[in-house]
Amino acid sequence: MVSPKLAMIFALTLLPFLFINKSDAASYYPFGLHGDGAEVAPFASQKVDLSVYYASLSQPSATFIVKNLEEIFHSDLINIINLHLVPWANAYVNKTNQSIICQNGPDECELNSLETCALNVWNDVSKHYALIYCFEFLAIEGRQKNWQDCFSQLDLPEEPVLNCYTRENATEIGQKYINETAPLEFLPLVMVNNESIGKEYENFTRYVCEAYRGTPVPAACNGWSTNKF
Ligand SMILES: *[C@@H]1O[C@H](CO)[C@@H](O)[C@H](O)[C@H]1NC(C)=O
Ligand SMILES: *[C@@H]1O[C@H](CO)[C@@H](O)[C@H](O)[C@H]1NC(C)=O
Ligand SMILES: *[C@@H]1O[C@H](CO)[C@@H](O)[C@H](O)[C@H]1NC(C)=O
Ligand SMILES: *[C@@H]1O[C@H](CO)[C@@H](O)[C@H](O)[C@H]1NC(C)=O
Ligand SMILES: *[C@@H]1O[C@H](CO)[C@@H](O)[C@H](O)[C@H]1NC(C)=O
Ligand SMILES: *[C@@H]1O[C@H](CO)[C@@H](O)[C@H](O)[C@H]1NC(C)=O
Repeated sequence: MVSPKLAMIFALTLLPFLFINKSDAASYYPFGLHGDGAEVAPFASQKVDLSVYYASLSQPSATFIVKNLEEIFHSDLINIINLHLVPWANAYVNKTNQSIICQNGPDECELNSLETCALNVWNDVSKHYALIYCFEFLAIEGRQKNWQDCFSQLDLPEEPVLNCYTRENATEIGQKYINETAPLEFLPLVMVNNESIGKEYENFTRYVCEAYRGTPVPAACNGWSTNKF
């Protein structure tokens, strides 16, 4: 479970920058901490696979993760989703010297590696997503070199992630993932149950809700056809 401190950091410090138009930023609570979230207990097999292929310094990817994807954590949508984040889109291995080349340079490879380590170290989606959110938030502002600040801001231990990072290093971490992603025309590539939703990625909620066959239907799915879309 997410520590209250971690949730507070998001609600009070990070989010207001991006959700400046939201009238009630103070009641804006990410990461499924709503009291009603726990009632939905779908069978794992009914969950919808939501895969996001991205590159950590691609601005559309960063914006999607921070602004759109974040919504699943402050609704009950996270309960019906298996989230699968793949940070190595459009990176490739130079066969001559086996090094990884990232579209937006070495900083991107570094951040991709750290995010992969976070994904490997914490199965708990709210934890690894929190860190990735923080990194991507910095990426939007061009402050990705300050990534180390995220650990203290979120009250997450940096040791396991740094251990993974120095132990495996970018080359090896990346190679496992790079085969999963052929070069993509645009980022992020969002897949719902393994089908691309193309440029509609901002509307992923609709596709997730349409793909979901379980009961009960999450409240986040009730309103979309009339209100939001
Ligand atoms: C791969 O690396 C070699 C050696 O550094 C370099 O000469 C070559 O241009 C690189 N190829 C690509 C496609 O980046
Ligand atoms: C491999 O080649 C790439 C592309 O030429 C270069 O940027 C990189 O520094 C090389 N890596 C090593 C470990 O030699
Ligand atoms: C890390 O990568 C470098 C090449 O970039 C390689 O020489 C070194 O052996 C790697 N270290 C580990 C622990 O795998
Ligand atoms: C990824 O592809 C490279 C060659 O392109 C191959 O050597 C390597 O075994 C593959 N790794 C995985 C995990 O499939
Ligand atoms: C999507 O693809 C993965 C890997 O190929 C597979 O394990 C998973 O069952 C697929 N999901 C759906 C809903 O088809
Ligand atoms: C999302 O869906 C609405 C309604 O169908 C549409 O007007 C809008 O263009 C879509 N947004 C994107 C980014 O595709």
